[in-house]
Amino acid sequence: MFKNEVYIKRRETLHGLMQSGLGLFMGNSEAPLNYPANTYHFRQDSDFLYYFGLDMPGFAGVMDFDSGKDWIFGDDFGLDDIIWMGPQPTVKDLALKAGVNNTAPLRKLEETIKEAVSKKRRIHFLPPYRGESKMALGSLLKENPCQMKTLASTDLIKAVVSMRSIKEDIEIKEIEKAVGIAYDMHVTAMKMCKPGVSEQEIFGTIEGIALAKGGGTSFPIILSINGQTLHNHVHNNILVKGRMMVTDAGAESNMHYASDITRTTPVGGKFSSQQKEIYEIVYRANTECIAAMKPGVPNRDIHFKACRIIAEGAKSLGFMKGDISEAVEAGAHTLFMPHGLGHQMGLDVHDMESLGENYVGYSDTVKRSDKFGTAYLRFALPYQPGHVLTVEPGFYFIPELINQWKAEGKYSAFINYGKLDKYMKVGGVRIEDNVLITAKGHKVLGKHIPKTVSEIEETCS
Ligand code: GLY
Ligand code: MN
Repeated sequence: MFKNEVYIKRRETLHGLMQSGLGLFMGNSEAPLNYPANTYHFRQDSDFLYYFGLDMPGFAGVMDFDSGKDWIFGDDFGLDDIIWMGPQPTVKDLALKAGVNNTAPLRKLEETIKEAVSKKRRIHFLPPYRGESKMALGSLLKENPCQMKTLASTDLIKAVVSMRSIKEDIEIKEIEKAVGIAYDMHVTAMKMCKPGVSEQEIFGTIEGIALAKGGGTSFPIILSINGQTLHNHVHNNILVKGRMMVTDAGAESNMHYASDITRTTPVGGKFSSQQKEIYEIVYRANTECIAAMKPGVPNRDIHFKACRIIAEGAKSLGFMKGDISEAVEAGAHTLFMPHGLGHQMGLDVHDMESLGENYVGYSDTVKRSDKFGTAYLRFALPYQPGHVLTVEPGFYFIPELINQWKAEGKYSAFINYGKLDKYMKVGGVRIEDNVLITAKGHKVLGKHIPKTVSEIEETCS
């Protein structure tokens, strides 16, 4: 945990942003695998972590926005628990670590909420994303658990997003630790990327690094020689020469801050000329987009900068034709990059996505596009100092998409479908870094992970 003053200050800020009512923050509970004592890996809710810091199941936090008082509800362990789990701190001791002076057992939470509801006070809560939390909230508020997401408080969502979007220096340090772990994961993956090695072996090895050095992975590892499938979680191939391995993997620091890095490595460690051609286009998109990041510039503009670089590269190889600005305006580039440039990152890898992507990455004036590809842009707003974003352009040869568009004659004014056949084996290339917006510009976070063609070849050798 950070020092208690961090949580006290964050809660004070939130009290200042909210007018009245109760703020109810449900910590996550254990989720049983097949019986209550055999559980899935516990991961605390990020909003609860942000305001109350306690990284254990079975707590709820309440902020009274009228009186300014904060509470932690939770049950002390009994002797039976302690025999199995060892000595445990009291709820009072734990609450003090978060700077909270008021505690009560969980059964009191129901009374507190009931009383507030009877007085017609507003109960503000954030959208729950787990079955257990939906059930708990539904039971507390006497509402249908399936409706809890729609009943969540927009005022609280907006206030929390405004705070969590701007990272404090102590949070940046945690993210840099997470990038440090990702360095070890990616360099290990590069060194293992040889013909005959299984994806599963590399996946398991780098997952182990995330667990050995931090809080485990920040999302399920994407690692495949079929990198043209954007989120490929299947690891059952044996590496063969001629393919490229996309590794999109990050770790959590012990305090649950994320990293999210992608590198693409040729199997055997040497780029073929075709692989290099595609890689250099994506490298240019990654580095030129990062270079242009500074406060006030909208991420949507940088996304389209990446799209133009991808499309210009495609034109230089004969895959595209015509005016590139017109092609990108029309959406033809999405054949090669059908996703957004990146997303905010912090306590969640897609930071605050559970609060609603449109609250995090869009606003009343900046609206999400519904066009293919661009609709996946998770963050379109102008940058502010303290934002942390991923920059992850890619170039993919997706057979199903190419075949369908070719059959439809889609964008035939801009695409030379016949030129693609020889490159299908390249599969997919993505390069991703984690970038902080600073007062004057930007900073790529953490230790530099091999990224140029020569750095990767050297690492592999
Ligand atoms: N790294 C996975 C993602 O950004 O969705
Ligand atoms: Mn990402």
